Amino acid sequence: MLKTLAGPKLGYQIDRYQHSLQSATRALRDGADEETVVCALLHDIGDTLAPDNHGGLAAAVLRPYVSEANHWIVRHHGLFQGYYFRHHLGGDRNDRERFRDHPQFEACAHFCERYDQTSFDPDYDTLQLEHFEPMVQRIFARPPRGAD
Ligand SMILES: [Fe+2]
Ligand SMILES: [Fe+2]
Repeated sequence: MLKTLAGPKLGYQIDRYQHSLQSATRALRDGADEETVVCALLHDIGDTLAPDNHGGLAAAVLRPYVSEANHWIVRHHGLFQGYYFRHHLGGDRNDRERFRDHPQFEACAHFCERYDQTSFDPDYDTLQLEHFEPMVQRIFARPPRGAD
């Protein structure tokens, strides 16, 4: 799913595959834990199949293997990203404020500010997939949490 993001740039300077790698690289360099780095790597994997609800799709895939907090962050990152562009499209950039009192509000805002919205830089020193593969394998090798 991650590799299907390679190719179309959708108006950005880099494609979603490179964006994903760059997001993970920034999370790693920010000192985030391994699970969060993997979430940064995979946060947009739903973009091909469900562009308007891609966070929900990625969150569903990750859910058994990550914390409730990281699940919530991945699920809601699209809404929180809206803070950076919705007002340019006639929308409300502060839509995310309805979650202001949620325990993961600040963490999700941090994820978007530091890893997601900033990771469209064609000149950034982005680590390649091989660097993250062992992390992905470790996270998905853990016993899955309870199913729905
Ligand atoms: Fe996204
Ligand atoms: Fe993203």
